[in-house]
Amino acid sequence: MYTLLLVLLVFIQLLLLFALFFLVTMMATALFGVPWVPTRDRIGKKMFELAELKSGETVVDFGCGDGSLLLTAVKKFGAAKGIGYEIHPGIRWIGLLRARIAGVSDKIDLQGGNFFKVELPKADVVATYLFPETQAKLEPLLKKYYPSGTRVVSRTFRYPSLLLIKTSEAHGEKLYLYKLP
Ligand SMILES: C[S@@+](CC[C@H](N)C(=O)[O-])C[C@H]1O[C@@H](n2cnc3c(N)ncnc32)[C@H](O)[C@@H]1O
Repeated sequence: MYTLLLVLLVFIQLLLLFALFFLVTMMATALFGVPWVPTRDRIGKKMFELAELKSGETVVDFGCGDGSLLLTAVKKFGAAKGIGYEIHPGIRWIGLLRARIAGVSDKIDLQGGNFFKVELPKADVVATYLFPETQAKLEPLLKKYYPSGTRVVSRTFRYPSLLLIKTSEAHGEKLYLYKLP
């Protein structure tokens, strides 16, 4: 009985330590970069309607959080692949778990690390929800690596010089669709 209590206490302590680590790293990410704010289905759907996402296409989310946008793309629009990059390991694990629970692990590829340091993957649609300064830094890379006509859809924040095709609104937030030159 005493041993069981001890094991339980150690388990609770480990859990608290993990939660603390998660919170501290999340605060650091928010302070020095872009905080994690997931795009749930109702806004994600509007974004992909705006981008006219078709079944079989590939979506890339730079700064994918828990993969919310990619899950919407795969589950609701039949995207063949959703590729995301997330700098916070804990948030990425949540995304991997969500993809597994939804039964779409084979279609969701969540990579860890900084997306400014990776080779950009192929995409039909790029989806982002980042701060304007981060999108401004990403913009030249998108122009350099993606073919003309690639669609870029953004929640709330604009890209500085991409060709704006259409805008839309979802629950009071602006959504922007661009096409790469
Ligand atoms: C506002 S959240 C959006 C999450 C997701 N795109 C969505 O709409 O549900 C932005 C995410 O980008 C991540 N992030 C910011 N800069 C990053 C970078 N350079 N590399 C990888 N992830 C980054 C943050 O950790 C955060 O989880």
